[in-house]
Amino acid sequence: MALPVGLLLLWVCGFHCVVCPDYEDDDPPAVETIIHFPEVKDGKCFFPFHYKNGIFYDCVKLKTKHKWCSVNETYQGYWKYCSEDDFAKCVFPFWYRHMIYRECTEDGDAFGRKWCSLTQHYNKDKIWKYCD
Ligand SMILES: *[C@@H]1O[C@H](CO)[C@@H](O)[C@H](O)[C@H]1NC(C)=O
Repeated sequence: MALPVGLLLLWVCGFHCVVCPDYEDDDPPAVETIIHFPEVKDGKCFFPFHYKNGIFYDCVKLKTKHKWCSVNETYQGYWKYCSEDDFAKCVFPFWYRHMIYRECTEDGDAFGRKWCSLTQHYNKDKIWKYCD
């Protein structure tokens, strides 16, 4: 079965990479550290959130030790480290090719691992993660 280009690209780019591949290779001066601001420990991740020129659908690790997220729609100094509950959740049902999926699927994955979309429209958004 042919692998959809989107999935293949995402796979090549790595399991944790849910954004465009070159974003993480940003030069250090362009990446401001979030640590200037205190963590909002009781905050809730806002997905997707905007940070710099990226849109993030899950917790991110951009030159930081641990994954974090913004608690506002657009990052403005409010952030928190992600705990188990904070990571992005599968969105059901979602569209993939011409089908509607109501649970994780192996369709299109080269290794037969189950994955899900993080938005309702995989075809358009191409944002996904593996299911545990
Ligand atoms: C961003 O989130 C923080 C923490 O929840 C909140 O105090 C602040 O008012 C929010 N900012 C905006 C513009 O909503």
